[in-house]
Amino acid sequence: MDGMRRRTLLAAIGGTVAAGGATEATAATATPARATAGTAGGDMARQARPAADRPGPHERQIRELLGRMTVEEKLGQLQQLTWNGETGPGGGQDEAAQRDARAGRLGSVLNLYGAARTNALQRLAVEESRLGIPLLFGLDVIHGFWTTFPIPLAQAASFDPAVAARDAEVASAEARSNGVHWTFAPMMDVTHEPRWGRIAESAGEDPYLAERFAAAKVAGHQGRPDGSDLPDPRHIAACAKHFVAYGGAEGGRDYNTVDVSEARLRNLYLPPFKAAVAAGVATVMASFNTINGVPAHANAHTLTDVLKTAWDFPGFVVSDWAGIREMTVHGHAADAADAARQALTAGVDMEMASTTLRDHGARLLAAGEIAGDRLDDAVTRVLRIKHLLGLFDRPYVDEDAASTAPSRQARAAAREMAGRTLVLLKNERQTLPLRRDTASIAVVGPFGDSTDLQGTWAGPGGTKFPATTVLAGITAAVPAARISHVRGVAADGTDTSGIAAATAAARAAAVTVVVVGEPSAISGEAASRSDLRLPGVQAQLVRAVAETGKPFVVVLIGGRPLVVAEWLRAAPAVVMAWHPGIEGGHAIADVLFGAVNPAGRLPASFPRAVGQLPIHYNHENTGRPYDPDNKYTSKYLDLADGPQFPFGHGLSYTTFEIGAPRLSTDRISADDLRAGRGVDVTVTVRNTGGRPGDEVVQLYLRDPVASVVQPVRRLRGFARVALRPAESRPVRFRLGAADVGFWTNDSAGRFVVEKGDIEVYVGADSTASGKALLRIT
Ligand code: BGC
Repeated sequence: MDGMRRRTLLAAIGGTVAAGGATEATAATATPARATAGTAGGDMARQARPAADRPGPHERQIRELLGRMTVEEKLGQLQQLTWNGETGPGGGQDEAAQRDARAGRLGSVLNLYGAARTNALQRLAVEESRLGIPLLFGLDVIHGFWTTFPIPLAQAASFDPAVAARDAEVASAEARSNGVHWTFAPMMDVTHEPRWGRIAESAGEDPYLAERFAAAKVAGHQGRPDGSDLPDPRHIAACAKHFVAYGGAEGGRDYNTVDVSEARLRNLYLPPFKAAVAAGVATVMASFNTINGVPAHANAHTLTDVLKTAWDFPGFVVSDWAGIREMTVHGHAADAADAARQALTAGVDMEMASTTLRDHGARLLAAGEIAGDRLDDAVTRVLRIKHLLGLFDRPYVDEDAASTAPSRQARAAAREMAGRTLVLLKNERQTLPLRRDTASIAVVGPFGDSTDLQGTWAGPGGTKFPATTVLAGITAAVPAARISHVRGVAADGTDTSGIAAATAAARAAAVTVVVVGEPSAISGEAASRSDLRLPGVQAQLVRAVAETGKPFVVVLIGGRPLVVAEWLRAAPAVVMAWHPGIEGGHAIADVLFGAVNPAGRLPASFPRAVGQLPIHYNHENTGRPYDPDNKYTSKYLDLADGPQFPFGHGLSYTTFEIGAPRLSTDRISADDLRAGRGVDVTVTVRNTGGRPGDEVVQLYLRDPVASVVQPVRRLRGFARVALRPAESRPVRFRLGAADVGFWTNDSAGRFVVEKGDIEVYVGADSTASGKALLRIT
């Protein structure tokens, strides 16, 4: 509710990509922070490094400033208020924000943007408050500010982290010039739950893919890991969210309980955060869920033991929206003061929207219920990021230089990146690509002429700059064709009266493009679904078009894996286009007519039915894995085994052959791995078809005997390789300790590399059969 309301208000205030030619991919070396194998050291100290010990260019100034601050001013730095805008309904915190900025009792403001408006508020803090500490302006810049790129799940489908980096670069420059210093992105919650609407914001079901995308996006927003690019007007501070295990919400229902073993926490949910910290992420956001009975906002184990102590994270932790106050609702805090005490003590540094710390901090401090050192540490962390951003030197933005609309280059980047995210799910008898000389095309379905292609969390540009529709994209791609458009059915509802007109259009055309899917409004936060089929009567439309017997293709719009079983067999070709962003219509047309050869791969399994959820490729084997001839094995009696489409699946207009994996050595000792040595895995990939295209070569591992049972497959490398017809290339992956080892259930954090065989699979999706054996001695 909160989120929806805020976004409506937000709308109201107005307010070098390699062409896929990578030939070498590193697996272990991509995660340097995790290189230590064996024991990764205890996390138990529950004492982050004291602020005074940390070297850094601004630490002396920060200490000096801290020495001059009153308790109220310190607590003020830990407060973020939300800006609801002049035109928003009452209940906003605008007046409080202005008053507190003047009084030097405010650290940050959420949801205010625009050069003149941020400068005006900043002036109150810098010129009227006693110490002149600048405000930090934060906004959810999730996949674009003016220029909306595809949703993050789509970006992950590109299997090309450069796509995320490009989005972040474009968005950062647009946002910073409008006074925004800080985005609440990237979201990196691994999830096995497509019912969960927030899967749209994530990289899907795999921690390694999420790691790579998290690191790329942090780099795109922030620049170099040491923070030295942050004063630059093209960069903004990033926020790794939501810490942690939010994607484990039971039943995929948003905000729901998470109960997770230490091993799963560390192997599945924590790795992307660790990669973000290694990439220098400035801030981390706590998550709404409980973790094993303790709200993430009061979780000293995750916030302090792991994040701040073991990983030595120097930035600050922001709460999620009212997440501190909600601990009273969770049943963990007696009242707001108790919530404030628990959150600060556990390691939250800044409070978003609720005001428990500001309201009760001074009394808690006087009573000895929160520690002065902890308060100073939290303030230091906030001031450190303000310094890194250069706000003490340049608190204002140049009002004449503010970006006001997507530039031509930004649009071109959004179109190119969107083209890299589309997944060709099915293509019988080479139905796609469509011929450019097709005389007549019918575009039918509720998304054929819809601008609802931007997806959840489209930024301020989402409402101001509508997306190019599929109809417009097709019209521009084949201007000579006769194009008809019939909506047929709405995105939701039960009215089937328009289907006859749609089938008439299909009969009259040489080919029909059926554009169906999920509106943005049922994807994202607070948008869990219990039914993943096409909403309304859209499936009926697809079947009716199929019954005409005329050629057609289906373009699927959506923010999550959908259940397509009711109509899949009837459809000769299906493209998953996700919520592709501002240039969506052009990007879809590029793929439909072959200007772009699709090479996206699924970052999350497509289920056959909701009843089999969770279904994910990285599951454990069980003692009774599926056997069609044995009733007493793990299965559903009324459903075929496995997903509709597996993780990593995606077709191309050309064909590829991936050779057997070759290892540089088939034996390596655990000691050698721990010392940083590795094993190279090489395959040859060849374009065996008639068109240029990209193959995504994927490497998976299986550890068949482990002290903590391991998933049947784990992605540990991928490379998107561009190949001309008949061209072949070697692709090399390097495996190290971080790839073959795993975290145990030891709460102090123990990463082990165990002796025994590791199965190495390389191929075109998570069912890859090309295999080699590596023995760890
Ligand atoms: C979401 C966060 C978001 C915050 C600020 C919350 O409801 O969970 O992801 O950053 O709102 O808008």
